[in-house]
Amino acid sequence: MIRRAVETDILAISALRDRLFPEDQTDFARELSLFSTRLWLAESEGNLCVGFLLAWVVVDEIHLHLVGVAEEIRGKGVARALLVPFLDPHLGDGMLSCARLEVRRDNEGAFALYRSVGFRIVNTRKRYYADGCDAFEMALPFEDGRPAPLASDDP
Ligand SMILES: CC(C)(COP(=O)(O)OP(=O)(O)OC[C@H]1O[C@@H](n2cnc3c(N)ncnc32)[C@H](O)[C@@H]1OP(=O)(O)O)[C@@H](O)C(=O)NCCC(=O)NCCS
Repeated sequence: MIRRAVETDILAISALRDRLFPEDQTDFARELSLFSTRLWLAESEGNLCVGFLLAWVVVDEIHLHLVGVAEEIRGKGVARALLVPFLDPHLGDGMLSCARLEVRRDNEGAFALYRSVGFRIVNTRKRYYADGCDAFEMALPFEDGRPAPLASDDP
């Protein structure tokens, strides 16, 4: 089940984040207190947190910051399910115009995931990450209240 996260989910989400993104320092308690933050989690049947997605509404766009799924449940559509509420153009105050994200060039799984829901590369940022890896900036515009993928893509 996918649902919006609440305060009592913070410990479980933080624990999963520590496993998946050991360098990440996100303070989820603070995030939840911010008007612009959107945080969803995926729960297993036993109510365990098996995935989460953190995003920020920035004016009329939504920016994906982190999405992660527990190793033991990957390949079952959990991340794609987490992207469904994220790609709802009605999530902001008014209608959102676009979803955006950055992804490491070498993160083939995440890149394939984003592409499969309609994100396309709009820019490449050379040596964007500390280890020298490039970042792809990807975007998915919204039109008439739904995602409308750009026609062109890969550089
Ligand atoms: C990337 C990640 C979130 C995918 O989660 P997931 O639940 O396994 O993904 P899904 O099962 O929903 O996959 C949906 C689609 O994404 C693509 N995809 C996902 N993982 C993939 C992989 N390892 N290789 C190739 N394609 C992949 C496929 O197109 C897949 O569709 P299909 O199963 O119909 O082929 C997960 O591997 C993860 O948490 N990775 C570590 C954290 C990370 O890198 N996050 C992204 C950057 S913030």
